[in-house]
Amino acid sequence: MAARAQGAPNSSAGRAQGAPSFDVATIRKDFPIFETGIAYLDSANTSQRPRQVTGAMMEYFEKFNSNIHRAAYHIAEEATVRYEATREKVRDLINASSTKEIIYTRGTTEAINLVAYSWGRKHIKQGDLIVLTIIEHHSNIVPWQILAAEKGATIEYVDIDERGELRLDQFHKLLERSPKLVAFGQVSNALGTINPAMEMVAAAKAAGATVLVDGAQGAPHQRVDVRALGCDFYAFSGHKMLGPTGAGILYGRRELLEAMDPFMSGGDMIKAVHIEGTTYHDLPWKFEAGTQAIAEVIGLGAAVDYLSALGMDAVRAHEREITEYAYEALSDVEGLTLYGPPPSRRAGVISFSLEGIHPHDLATIADRDQVCLRAGHHCAMPLMTRLGVAATARASFYVYTQKDEVDRLVGSIKEAQRIFK
Ligand SMILES: Cc1ncc(COP(=O)(O)O)c(C=O)c1O
Repeated sequence: MAARAQGAPNSSAGRAQGAPSFDVATIRKDFPIFETGIAYLDSANTSQRPRQVTGAMMEYFEKFNSNIHRAAYHIAEEATVRYEATREKVRDLINASSTKEIIYTRGTTEAINLVAYSWGRKHIKQGDLIVLTIIEHHSNIVPWQILAAEKGATIEYVDIDERGELRLDQFHKLLERSPKLVAFGQVSNALGTINPAMEMVAAAKAAGATVLVDGAQGAPHQRVDVRALGCDFYAFSGHKMLGPTGAGILYGRRELLEAMDPFMSGGDMIKAVHIEGTTYHDLPWKFEAGTQAIAEVIGLGAAVDYLSALGMDAVRAHEREITEYAYEALSDVEGLTLYGPPPSRRAGVISFSLEGIHPHDLATIADRDQVCLRAGHHCAMPLMTRLGVAATARASFYVYTQKDEVDRLVGSIKEAQRIFK
């Protein structure tokens, strides 16, 4: 392989000038897993990782494995520098004002729980209203349900229309009731719907709400600017954006984070501990108790480098092309029902069901063809109930997805139809 900057993808040199595109066949060479012959159509669940990410983690293990923030020797200093370097990369990726606003978590779930615990327990009171949507992932529902039950608050859910898009009329009506908190996903993991996040945040802020955006399906797939978005909190997971499991991000506006109490407590999140009491560390470390996922955070940094080199506009453009292709191909299949909006208003996620064939049976047959397809409720059971289905099949795409993988999926669907006829 030709020498190139650490974290840079294979294709960066071959990108056409000015055009938001990259050569998928070339970058696939960075992903050893594709040598197994799988068609991986489950990236909304977790993405694959390029060598640059696993390499950065291996380098930590093999060359400077040690704990961070607390040792005087060289390799511990190196580990600390690389661990902290991810913060600036993430800050830049989402255009936060300061690295103090970038909190490492295990993922989106932990990030939302952190907000529910540290912000929610202080600010949500009896009779308060929390506004969610019916398309939320469980991790943006359950923490609020627990909080609401504890505080005697109420939750209202914004419904969807027949195309799987949020009922904004209903959203605006709920805002008239001055909710304390509005929390919604930027992109639905189950339907692929891209919500009008900018408009929703602006309206919710104007109504006086604190706003959390679940960016688990946003940040990996499109350019995100948290300052332009104007939200108070933004959560996402490294493992859905080429990084390893166990490292995710909570962005929070500094003044809110400063005023919040810690989530977890113990080592590393303190300035001083005395038997009479404790003073907490400054941001962002106040929220990072105990030994952290050091290798994973370093891996996440390499993933951000990789995506940044591709360019988030190119990532979005590629996914849109694949999604349009898949939408067309699947629309042509008899007995197939597609859920969600048209490709122009959806991310690289397509949920569908097949007449007379359970999604799990389809996924099993696809697996025989080495096609990795998700079947189930996608951790969005309220949405499944709303759609009147127990489960759907879901194909989801990323930077490495090729059209021939979509063709292989269509082949598996036809095979399933032949078997179940
Ligand atoms: C929209 C959305 N929110 C939250 C999550 C939870 O992410 P994690 O399991 O990485 O914490 C997911 C994962 O699928 C998701 O798609």
